[in-house]
Amino acid sequence: MEQIDFSFLEELAAKYGTPYYLMYPDVYEKNIGSFLSAFTPRYENIIVGYSFKTNYVPYLCGISLRMGCYAEVVSTMEYELARYLGFEHIIFNGPIKNKPILIDALKNGTIVNLDSLYEVDCVCEYKLSHPNDDVRIGLRVNIELTDEMGSSRIQNGLRVGRFGFTLKMLEIVIRRLKQADVNIISIHGHTSSSDRAVSNYQIIVRQMLKICKTFDLEDIEYFDIGGGFFGAAAKGIDASHKPQYKDYADAILDIVLADNWFITHTPAVVIEPGVSVVANVFSYVSKLYQSKRIAGQNFITTDGTVFDVKPTMHSNNLPFTIYTQTESTQLIICDIVGSTCMEKDIILKDVEVPKIQFGDYILIDGVGAYTITLTPTFINYLSPILSLTENTVQQVRRRQTINDIISLYK
Ligand SMILES: Cc1ncc(COP(=O)(O)O)c(C=O)c1O
Repeated sequence: MEQIDFSFLEELAAKYGTPYYLMYPDVYEKNIGSFLSAFTPRYENIIVGYSFKTNYVPYLCGISLRMGCYAEVVSTMEYELARYLGFEHIIFNGPIKNKPILIDALKNGTIVNLDSLYEVDCVCEYKLSHPNDDVRIGLRVNIELTDEMGSSRIQNGLRVGRFGFTLKMLEIVIRRLKQADVNIISIHGHTSSSDRAVSNYQIIVRQMLKICKTFDLEDIEYFDIGGGFFGAAAKGIDASHKPQYKDYADAILDIVLADNWFITHTPAVVIEPGVSVVANVFSYVSKLYQSKRIAGQNFITTDGTVFDVKPTMHSNNLPFTIYTQTESTQLIICDIVGSTCMEKDIILKDVEVPKIQFGDYILIDGVGAYTITLTPTFINYLSPILSLTENTVQQVRRRQTINDIISLYK
């Protein structure tokens, strides 16, 4: 953003306090638009189900709603949020959907992708007691994400993933659903991988097609590939060797458009992007307080915290910029550490920065995914979020207050 400099950050700090998040709605819109247009020249029937869990700031979700995205939710809380925000089109995934919320979702026309026998039971019971209702559900399938060398690509190197039904389970599940006259309208193959490689999607899509054919799934309207894509890298992250939206779109479409079952049924291709559309939509600004040297090691302390920028505590340094009041050519290697009392509150490790004084700022980029939704009220109040365009600044979340905290307790 052109307008970001020391005095701009200082102005915002004076008005809203520090730390604070900056949100770039135009970037989010552009990411979603670009992902869609990677598919549409070859296949029009494409749906983006925005993954709420990745970042459900309501203002942001409102943008995806206006752009025609579906809400992809995985819990009662997210489902209720999507309904509250006015989403009519919702995809309900996740391993636990209790009966009342599952039935509510079915009645509202939500695309519910079942993940367990408990859910299958609930749906069949409901259909039995409401024989005239058109009950439509989806099935999450368990994908064997093993490459040609026999190694698993599942997230964290896990040998198998735990979500969805295996082929063996599907035999029982599909028989039961068909006997109960429940329509199977969606197949869902989301599988999180560590490498987010394009080739994973070839494996996923092939297995999904195989299941549709093996079980004669004639009513499929949604061919839901899930999320887990790469994209939306923050400035400063080298993404030159990473896949682009179009690489995924081409890999998926090359396979499905050459498949007879697919071109006969022409279901909507659903993608559920999270990280890949929101990672570069947020930055985090905190004030620098002091520089310390202890046993040869330099520390710079901010009023921000690692819990706000990478609550998963991964060890990668995110891209950052220091904004100082006076220019300094003197550089030091230091750890940028946070305001909590935890030794592990290390925001950046061994980074080179100019000499700072109290009141300088650090801006950390690429904090849009799995940050705000994962950040607890830990020691500090939750920070405000300021939406920034070329001409406007709008506060879309205020700072938490003591009243917010105590109102939950007796
Ligand atoms: C079912 C489902 N869809 C979409 C996503 C979004 O994944 P990502 O943020 O990696 O794109 C996830 C993440 O775990 C998921 O579980």
